[in-house]
Amino acid sequence: MARKKIIAGNWKMNMTPSEAVELINTLKPLVKTEEADVVFCVPAIDIIPAVEAAKGSNIQIGAENLYFEEKGAFTGEISPAMLTDAGVKFVVIGHSERRQYFAETNETVNKKVLKAFEHGITPIVCCGESLEQREQGITIDWIRQQIKIAFLNVTADQAKTAVIAYEPIWAIGTGKTATSDQAEEVCGAIRKCIGEIYDEATAAAIRIQYGGSVNAKTAPELFTKPDIDGGLVGGASLKPEFGQIVNWH
Ligand code: 13P
Repeated sequence: MARKKIIAGNWKMNMTPSEAVELINTLKPLVKTEEADVVFCVPAIDIIPAVEAAKGSNIQIGAENLYFEEKGAFTGEISPAMLTDAGVKFVVIGHSERRQYFAETNETVNKKVLKAFEHGITPIVCCGESLEQREQGITIDWIRQQIKIAFLNVTADQAKTAVIAYEPIWAIGTGKTATSDQAEEVCGAIRKCIGEIYDEATAAAIRIQYGGSVNAKTAPELFTKPDIDGGLVGGASLKPEFGQIVNWH
């Protein structure tokens, strides 16, 4: 069965609640499609108004993070039950910005991935190498390690529903999109790694996105590669351009 594309916006730390509603109302008619899942991953405080604004459309709302405990004395954190109760379907886990600025590790990523599945939230598991790692020729080794740890104790049935976002750090917010061949090489290696951890059926089912300066110009070539099942889009998801990315062909 062909994998359905999944095109997600990662708003990062942008948009106040009222701006969020305005942006969703602007984008709603532009991101209509039957062919791809369309997800807006928004700041926690925007989730409730975003879910409300997206009602009746094909837009699904995701979070940008969650905490791996159920509840309790974890000041400032957001629990998985809070997210599901608010209508969240997806959650970005282990974005490179969270690894860099908020001390996320492969181990906390794994805990969060397991917790998301426990609550029926689909994780968008991020991985990616730095420019230095690419130049050292260790990209694939590094990504395989990130994936193997992120998926520890995740069952094959769960993994089949997961989304992985390959985001080379050097391509994020730099305007320097990876070439479609570079992106395909790594997305193919990720699929192979999933095949090794699980089996061919799981490798064939899991969806792998590319992220890093995706725009309306670069999306079509990236999204036609066999192992690239869509994109995780930062800057361009905040603009009408996102409609062109979603309707890339
Ligand atoms: P940009 O599209 O702004 O490069 O961001 C990519 C990203 O980090 C999405 O998670």
